Amino acid sequence: MEALPQWLTIGEVAERSGVPHTALRFYEEKQLVFSERSAGNQRRYHRSVLRRLAFIRAAQRVGLTLEDIQSALATLPEGRNPTKADWARLSSTWREELNARIEALQLLRDRLTGCIGCGCLSLRSCFLHNADDAMAAYGPGSPRLKPQVEGGR
Ligand code: FES
Repeated sequence: MEALPQWLTIGEVAERSGVPHTALRFYEEKQLVFSERSAGNQRRYHRSVLRRLAFIRAAQRVGLTLEDIQSALATLPEGRNPTKADWARLSSTWREELNARIEALQLLRDRLTGCIGCGCLSLRSCFLHNADDAMAAYGPGSPRLKPQVEGGR
């Protein structure tokens, strides 16, 4: 297998990482990755950028925003790519966030299940619009209409 050169062009980085040129330039703008300039003013990336990009892609797969990723990378000594220990530390905090998100999605799914059989889409009382869940105790359906319907209006 051919050894990886120390410095890579944007095309080589894109090909090896699967990250398009436009995204690489965007990441650079956001200071997630860094490049040097060649004598001809072309971008040259140190080969270690591939590990940094792998980190960014993994974080995105978990659902982190670019701002979250910037914050995570900012906890590392300047310019350092995440080591195995860094990865273990950062990814374990993401696991907690992921669990919280899964819990929230399960709650949303359960509410949607109730709404499927209702259809009121009430902005005041529908479980999907009611962020603070004030009417959740009344069960699915439009709780504000129920007494009228049940009362045989
Ligand atoms: S559609 Fe959501 S409670 Fe009726």
